[in-house]
Amino acid sequence: MILSMLPTVDWKDDCVVMVDQRKLPGKEVYVELRTAREVARAIEKMVIRGAPAIGVAAAMGLALGVRKSRAKGSAALAGEFYKLCDMMAGTRPTAVNLFWAIDRMKGVFSDAVRAGRSPEEIDSLMVAEAGRVHDEDIACCRALGAHGAALLPDTGHVLTHCNAGALATGGYGTALGVIRAAVEGGKRIAVYADETRPFLQGSRLTAWELLRDGIATTIVTDGMAGSLFRKGRVDAVVVGADRIAANGDVANKIGTYTVAVLAREHAVPFYVAAPTSTIDLATADGDGIPIEERSAREVTHVGSARVAAEGVGVWNPAFDVTPHRFVAGIITERGVCRPPYDESLAAIHGQQ
Ligand code: MRU
Repeated sequence: MILSMLPTVDWKDDCVVMVDQRKLPGKEVYVELRTAREVARAIEKMVIRGAPAIGVAAAMGLALGVRKSRAKGSAALAGEFYKLCDMMAGTRPTAVNLFWAIDRMKGVFSDAVRAGRSPEEIDSLMVAEAGRVHDEDIACCRALGAHGAALLPDTGHVLTHCNAGALATGGYGTALGVIRAAVEGGKRIAVYADETRPFLQGSRLTAWELLRDGIATTIVTDGMAGSLFRKGRVDAVVVGADRIAANGDVANKIGTYTVAVLAREHAVPFYVAAPTSTIDLATADGDGIPIEERSAREVTHVGSARVAAEGVGVWNPAFDVTPHRFVAGIITERGVCRPPYDESLAAIHGQQ
């Protein structure tokens, strides 16, 4: 059985097309973005989200920016391009894939300028590079899925937090890629998806995309996870990551740390699945990872309905850091890293 690929983001006829994830699962609406600014806004407003998908969208957005500005000539194009890179970098601070993708596009742009390429040639090179970022991300998900599937039991329940699925990547998913690959390989895996307050990526997105693939999924509110572990109903945890520091500390959706502590208390393996583009060797440990704080409204409201008293204080960090000592393995497209992570991550990052 080969499980489906969702059209999370794509380049089509001079636009970036993406499914508006804020509207799922109620409505499957595709938006066509025609400028780099529109793509940046879509990232900021979480039309598209998930670290690898943000990287793919940013790469396509910058290619779009070059396409729109190429008629202005080489000098104006360069000035404009670097401004667009800064704008894109200002959208979301935690997912390192964003900065990785921007650096990659900058590298192609500056090489092309140095080689004296025309604006039209630079445009084609940028579109081709964005396509490669997309294709490579899907290939990474497939490869890490295969590595991770081997770690899951033949039959059992896997708990995941947030959405690290096809919707969070170029396609197929990281944590959900591991689950998909296990199911494709004949394992009988059922999933518990944490609801994931406040943006509800678990109940809205993870449940939706797994049910489309016929994978049995049960949602629990975040506070229910402890009882599930205590009843012995979780055999493994697999989550994604927004940034992995050099020592193996992992930033992921707020609430992930709680799950990791529960997993340790109940002797359940806690795995992180992420492409090597999520590993940030320049950041020594989790304390150095910038944690995005989002608007209070995400917590005080569900959709347009207020669910908290007017005037109440709100703290809304979008991510937390799980110390590396809670992580049983980091599943990448090049294999599974084990502790000590400062050694295994550096070694895997150096491989081609
Ligand atoms: O705020 P989001 O929805 O962008 O957060 C997403 C997550 O935390 C994911 O788990 C992470 O980006 C990995 S996605 C493969």
